[in-house]
Amino acid sequence: MQLVRKAVFPVAGLGTRFLPATKAVPKEMFPVVDRPLIQYALEEARASGIEEFIFVTAPGKEAIEAHFRPDPELEHALAAQGKTEAHEAITAYLPDPHHVHFTLQTEALGLGHAIWCARELVGDEPFAILLPDDLVQSETPCLKQLLDVYEEKGGNVVGVMDVPREETRRYGILETGEDDGRLAEVRGLVEKPDPAQAPSTLSIIGRYVLQPEIFDLLAERRQGAGNEIQLTDAMARMIGGTPFHGLRFAGHRFDCGERLGFLEASVAYALARKDFGESARAMLEGYAKKG
Ligand code: G1P
Repeated sequence: MQLVRKAVFPVAGLGTRFLPATKAVPKEMFPVVDRPLIQYALEEARASGIEEFIFVTAPGKEAIEAHFRPDPELEHALAAQGKTEAHEAITAYLPDPHHVHFTLQTEALGLGHAIWCARELVGDEPFAILLPDDLVQSETPCLKQLLDVYEEKGGNVVGVMDVPREETRRYGILETGEDDGRLAEVRGLVEKPDPAQAPSTLSIIGRYVLQPEIFDLLAERRQGAGNEIQLTDAMARMIGGTPFHGLRFAGHRFDCGERLGFLEASVAYALARKDFGESARAMLEGYAKKG
């Protein structure tokens, strides 16, 4: 079985749900406590064993590239001032510059098209995709859980969770075959179906392990829901030819592409912090009492 060494991070989206904040700042740079969303995604991938990091970005989102580039001047200034913690904070997360790659999606044609833009950087090997809007708090990194399934079953694996039926039109939805309550065989996939038509309430969240054949299907540029080139539609066409599973991962997923989800993530991550979780709790309790 071929190892999964590469991860693609599609970060070209416009972030319209977060305007005006996203006018000049990419949503992937929004901080949850003190780290931008994109850093959580990269750290999850690295903790899962990924070695190459591929960003599909767009003009105007240069801050993402800057975040992963070493900044010798700032490092030097912090070191000179003896600010060791701050120095550590801006260096420890940095991947080796030779293992970080950027490519541009110049037209907003959908998630499927964004992934297709990474085809040459990925090449002919299985790869992972992480959508940084979906932040997952878990003991074992979410992507690592998918990779463990991949090593056992091969083929394609997506992270899934049950959502209320009225929310199916926000997600890619599974039609399931065999299902042991943790791992579900994928028999069909529909992008953003109406609740009445949804084949289940099992939804894809932004973690995928896919075979490179997906690129041939995406190359056909077929339009789907919202007239966009959908990743889900291309994945649906791989069903049958290769094993395909949905994993109900262990962990809590926050939808940081949405205001309340982002706020919830900020609260949850603040409470989980050793350095000021206690003070955050006391502050929140104060607000709760005010009613
Ligand atoms: C994308 C995918 C969808 C998936 C979702 C997870 O939708 O197209 O299948 O369920 O991410 O967050 P988007 O959130 O970009 O509309």
